[in-house]
Amino acid sequence: MQLSQRLQMIFRYDIITLVLVASIVQSIQSKKCNKSHPDGSYEVTCNDPETRSCGNASVLIDVGGTTVGTEANLSCLNGYTLWGSDSIVCLDSGQWSQLNAYCIPDDIGDPNIQSFDGSIYLFNNFTGSNYSQAKEYCTNICSTLIEINNQEEDQFVYETFQNLEIESLWIGIESVNGGNFSWQSGNTTQTNMYANWESIEPVDPEAGTCVLATPQYTFWAPVTEDCEFPTDFVCEFGSN
Ligand SMILES: *[C@@H]1O[C@H](CO)[C@@H](O)[C@H](O)[C@H]1NC(C)=O
Ligand SMILES: *[C@@H]1O[C@H](CO)[C@@H](O)[C@H](O)[C@H]1NC(C)=O
Ligand SMILES: *[C@@H]1O[C@H](CO)[C@@H](O)[C@H](O)[C@H]1NC(C)=O
Ligand SMILES: *[C@@H]1O[C@H](CO)[C@@H](O)[C@H](O)[C@H]1NC(C)=O
Ligand SMILES: *[C@@H]1O[C@H](CO)[C@@H](O)[C@H](O)[C@H]1NC(C)=O
Ligand SMILES: *[C@@H]1O[C@H](CO)[C@@H](O)[C@H](O)[C@H]1NC(C)=O
Ligand SMILES: *[C@@H]1O[C@H](CO)[C@@H](O)[C@H](O)[C@H]1NC(C)=O
Repeated sequence: MQLSQRLQMIFRYDIITLVLVASIVQSIQSKKCNKSHPDGSYEVTCNDPETRSCGNASVLIDVGGTTVGTEANLSCLNGYTLWGSDSIVCLDSGQWSQLNAYCIPDDIGDPNIQSFDGSIYLFNNFTGSNYSQAKEYCTNICSTLIEINNQEEDQFVYETFQNLEIESLWIGIESVNGGNFSWQSGNTTQTNMYANWESIEPVDPEAGTCVLATPQYTFWAPVTEDCEFPTDFVCEFGSN
């Protein structure tokens, strides 16, 4: 065998060795991500959990580990209190359990924070806000202006604001084209089958585009002027 041929052989063996080593390393690495157990099962892990982004009111998640059964602790920034469950858990599916907690500003005060049928409500009676300010306030803390879906929820609203001695509240139903009113979720009084208008559903754009609930009349009144009237409002967390 000539020297050049011999060198070529050595070179080929080197390449084969490299390829072998690379594939062994790769198989070790992939086993690390999806470890197989003697019984043939695989170890599942969860990715980083997702949080809702709502500025200072975002729920903070303290992840200790990513194996199934591991809990991650939830908390809030100073000035906010956590409402709801205080942890999530990595499930068999490789997903985190549902984040069922909210950070609620401390300046709202306990009597104005109410739970009803799985939702949390903030009755904001400390600030005269026009409709767009009210809507923006709720959105900034990851809630929406209240969506009233049935008679029980409507009843709850009227009882609560009578107890709190609130005069009127913006609720989250509005008309953008004059005529049909819809909630922020896109639900309408046709799709969710509940409404409590002061008369039949307003169809005239002149009837107004924003809606106040007032305890002395116990129904929803569209306001005829624009939505500038400064009053109180209700934010709802967890309506869906
Ligand atoms: C891990 O193994 C399971 C069970 O065979 C499989 O369903 C899953 O897709 C694997 N995941 C990865 C990242 O390879
Ligand atoms: C968030 O908190 C910081 C520090 O307290 C403050 O300066 C900022 O205005 C807050 N942002 C909002 C949207 O409230
Ligand atoms: C979550 O809270 C529990 C109880 O306070 C504590 O034992 C655990 O270490 C915390 N986990 C993390 C990741 O902070
Ligand atoms: C808001 O309601 C709370 C609790 O009922 C009450 O203490 C507070 O005085 C009210 N604030 C205003 C501005 O009406
Ligand atoms: C209002 O809703 C009704 C019933 O869904 C529909 O027939 C009508 O076209 C809607 N009007 C407008 C202006 O969207
Ligand atoms: C929309 O209406 C449906 C039917 O009433 C209801 O189940 C759903 O919770 C509503 N969505 C929201 C965001 O309230
Ligand atoms: C609501 O109030 C804000 C702040 O005073 C103002 O800029 C805005 O034009 C008002 N919007 C309406 C619809 O009145």
